[in-house]
Amino acid sequence: MPAPTEPAPPPTISKLSAIEQSKRLAAYTAVDKHILPEHKVIGIGSGSTVPYVVERIVSQGKELNKDRVFIPTGFQSKELIVISNLNLGDVDQFPTIDVTIDGADEVDLELNCIKGGGACHLREKVLAEAAKTFILVADYRKNVDYLGTNFTPGVPIEVVPFAYAKVLQNLHHVLGSPNATLRMAKMKAGPVVSDNGNFIIDAPFSTDIMKDPYTIMARIKMLTGVVEVGLFCHMAQAAYFGNQDGSVTVK
Ligand code: 5RP
Repeated sequence: MPAPTEPAPPPTISKLSAIEQSKRLAAYTAVDKHILPEHKVIGIGSGSTVPYVVERIVSQGKELNKDRVFIPTGFQSKELIVISNLNLGDVDQFPTIDVTIDGADEVDLELNCIKGGGACHLREKVLAEAAKTFILVADYRKNVDYLGTNFTPGVPIEVVPFAYAKVLQNLHHVLGSPNATLRMAKMKAGPVVSDNGNFIIDAPFSTDIMKDPYTIMARIKMLTGVVEVGLFCHMAQAAYFGNQDGSVTVK
C-alpha cells in the first residue's frame, strides 16, 4: 500500500502569502530608497501594504525616528503610528511633508492610480499633495497599463450622505457609469462610512473613458456632493511593485 502523502495546502493560503511577500518587498524597497535620514516629516498611507512600510521605518532605529513626525491618512495608519511608538502629527501642523508612502489599487503606465479601496482617498490625496515626494507601493497585481483593467470595483468616490442618490443618478445617466453602486459594509449592515463621515460610491467606467483619467476625475469632481475622487493623476513620483519571483518593478 503506498504511504499516505501530505495533503497539499489550500491554494488560497500559499497565494496569500506570496502576495504578502510581494507587498513587503515593495514596501521595504521604497523605504530604503526614499525615507532618508534628512526626512523629518513623513506621511503614512492606508491599506494592507502600509504596515510593511512602517515596519521598515521602525527598523531604521529609534535614534533616527525620535526626531521625525508621522502624519496618518486615517484611523488605521494613526493606530499603526501609535502602536509602533512613532511620533504622531497632523497635516494642519505640518502642511509640507517630506515624503508620503501609500498603497494603490491600480497604477498605470503614467503613474496615475486608483486609490480608495479602504475609503481613505480624501485624506490620502491631501497627504499626497502636501508631500514633496509621493511614492506608491503595491504587489504585482496592481501594476497595469491602463486604469480600470484590473479587479477594482471601479473608481471610489466619497460623497456627502445627503447627496449620494443624486450623485449616483448623475453617474448612471450622465457620466457613463451605469453600474455605479453605493459601497456597503460587510453583511450589508449599511453603507460604508469614511473617516470623514461620508459615503463611498464605486463607479466602474469603460476602458475608453479610463484612458483619460484626468478628464473623468474632473467631471466627477464637478458633481455637487462629491468630496473627492479616488483617481490620483500625475501625483506620484515613483511606484514599487513586489513580484512573485522576488524582484521589484519600479515605475
Ligand atoms: C485605501 C487605499 C489603499 O492604499 C489601497 O486600497 C491599497 O490597499 P492595499 O495595500 O491593501 O492593497 O487607497 O483607501
